[in-house]
Amino acid sequence: MQNKDIVLLAVESSCDETAASVVKNGREVLSNVIASQIELHKLYGGVVPEIASRKHIENINQVIERALREADMAIRDVDGVCVTYGPGLVGALLVGVGAAKAISYAAGKPLVGVHHIEGHISANYICHKDLEPPFLCLVVSGGHSHLVKVRDYGEYELIGRTRDDAAGEAFDKVARSIGLGYPGGPKIDALAPQGDKEAISFPRASVEGAPYDFSFSGVKSAVLNYINGCKMKGIGYSQADIAASFQEAVTDVLVSHTMLAAEEYGMNKVAMAGGVACNHALRAKMNAACGERGYRLYYPEPIYCTDNAAMIGSAGYYEYRKGRRDGWDLNAVPGLKLV
Ligand code: KG4
Ligand code: ZN
Repeated sequence: MQNKDIVLLAVESSCDETAASVVKNGREVLSNVIASQIELHKLYGGVVPEIASRKHIENINQVIERALREADMAIRDVDGVCVTYGPGLVGALLVGVGAAKAISYAAGKPLVGVHHIEGHISANYICHKDLEPPFLCLVVSGGHSHLVKVRDYGEYELIGRTRDDAAGEAFDKVARSIGLGYPGGPKIDALAPQGDKEAISFPRASVEGAPYDFSFSGVKSAVLNYINGCKMKGIGYSQADIAASFQEAVTDVLVSHTMLAAEEYGMNKVAMAGGVACNHALRAKMNAACGERGYRLYYPEPIYCTDNAAMIGSAGYYEYRKGRRDGWDLNAVPGLKLV
């Protein structure tokens, strides 16, 4: 049992949210500040990296100051500074890494670099105080679709991954193609209940010889072909039916692969993480599948599913306890691997 509380300041800027948080002992969130750039990127139909970096620069100091203020702390009160250093957009990551390095240097606090996906997985520790490894985690975000066996804190085995588009990316692209705008995931989620999920049969792709891998480019193309087919025939199509049928195809695959892996790897605790883990259909389907098999299902509250710094503070805590310390040469690594 540890005898002293560990309080960490965490910074996240890998994509389009500038975020900072103060987290105690990896599980207790003392503040969670998120400056979202969604409204700005909506104008362009997706994240524009150059604009994201500039906005992070504008926001980062205020966001960090606010996170400390809301936690009622000064920088001298924290035990260390952790920051996402990859994967993500290089220019965006560099803003957080630069800020975290400057603060930790000036305040004489240890610096801990954190993997963004490790952060998403760790969001579950914040929302489920009793959750401990080992467990299986489906990580589904805008940039990643991974099936990960969490062996222990900070110890991962990659069981499956996407061969092309990430699940969130497919949601965003399909939403754009049916005119729903950015970000598409929440819009498809909201529209789908008004449609018929059996109206259109979209493909459920598997990768030969890799039963836990995903491929979402086929279903995305099938949606585009369906729309083009309707246009060529001069017939209208229902946005809601497409949203519902597409969501059904993607969530079917996510759930069936996760269940297959849970069985094969003997895992009776299943977690989800990342922005797509907010999806209502996915949550309901995964709940039913886990219920049938007697597995316990965990997923974070929506605010901890999408990008935030509290999850980085949680992952950073376990890295800090294992002794990870980074030097002033910590750099952004856009393609950083989990294992
Ligand atoms: O984890 P996240 O905030 O950022 C990355 O690390 O990529 O995930 C963002 C992604 C976007 O693609 C967004 O459309 C998707 O998560 N998303 C959703 C939902 N909410 C966010 N996808 C489906 N249903 C949702 N409710
Ligand atoms: Zn993310």
